[in-house]
Amino acid sequence: MTGRALASAPGKVILTGEHFVVHGEPSLVMAVDLRAYVEARAGAEGFRIEAPNLGLTWSGEGDVPRPLAPIKLLMDRLLEESRSRRGLWVRVTSSIPTSAGLGSSAAVAVAAAASLCTPLGEVFIEVEIFELALEAERLVHVNPSGVDPLISTVGGVVAYRRGEGYVAVEASVKPTIIVGYTGSRRPTGAMVKRVERLRRKYPEVMAPLFHAGGHLTIEAAEALREGDLERLGELLNVNHGLLCAIGVSTRKLDKLVYAARGAGALGAKLTGAGGGGCMIALCREAEADKVARAIERSGGRALKVRMDGEGVRLEEVRRA
Ligand code: MEV
Repeated sequence: MTGRALASAPGKVILTGEHFVVHGEPSLVMAVDLRAYVEARAGAEGFRIEAPNLGLTWSGEGDVPRPLAPIKLLMDRLLEESRSRRGLWVRVTSSIPTSAGLGSSAAVAVAAAASLCTPLGEVFIEVEIFELALEAERLVHVNPSGVDPLISTVGGVVAYRRGEGYVAVEASVKPTIIVGYTGSRRPTGAMVKRVERLRRKYPEVMAPLFHAGGHLTIEAAEALREGDLERLGELLNVNHGLLCAIGVSTRKLDKLVYAARGAGALGAKLTGAGGGGCMIALCREAEADKVARAIERSGGRALKVRMDGEGVRLEEVRRA
């Protein structure tokens, strides 16, 4: 089989339940209109991975740079399955900031799995794309819950529980979300490890915080379904408090969170693994610009995101 395929997958913001989801609690997560694009060409000479955004290339020899290792794993896995010895070229581009808590690595893994399986003659099945991307995520994260590859695969807003699956949440009002980027990065795996250490050290103290994180996600999903944005906003604030308690917020994240609340956001919290990265503010449309300006004045980079109803998709296929 030869040919080429271009696939894309969205990034995400976690509305509630990050970290708690790693330990079996539910999480509410929304796909956003920032996408990773991966093009795969089968039948070329040799093996190559290019990621110009990251300034990285692997030309088929020697050690693969760590951020490209998940793509290499997907190449190996799919080549094994297709019993093909053909060369493969992969090119990655993305508008999702990396290591910012916006699901960049999962979106790349999902788009890579989809683009690679197509020219190799494999059938494109969502559940298999998710499983492959989760396997690739395990190379870069400690103990990933699966929430990131899941939302990049299915899109929209979902409530997800590790090991049980997900339900789509039909939001009766589309939430307006401003993302505030601190400009600093911390790998997800390091933050997951830090939380795990605290959880083991203080099991009696931590267990109620984790359960509270799960309960608030169930309430937040209900609030979103009913279009009760004030209730959702309050729950985001409570969630930020819990994330501070488990040690994943930072001074800069707190500063952006309080600036957004002061400018009229209905709720604000860090999103993703924390330790840097991004926060989100839930706003009424009329307040969105004011909230974005407050985030910028406090030293963050503000970005308005919209819900993306579509998960992974094939953009272009050419069979040779
Ligand atoms: C990262 O986007 C979310 C975390 O809960 C890790 C995970 O769920 O794998 C911090």
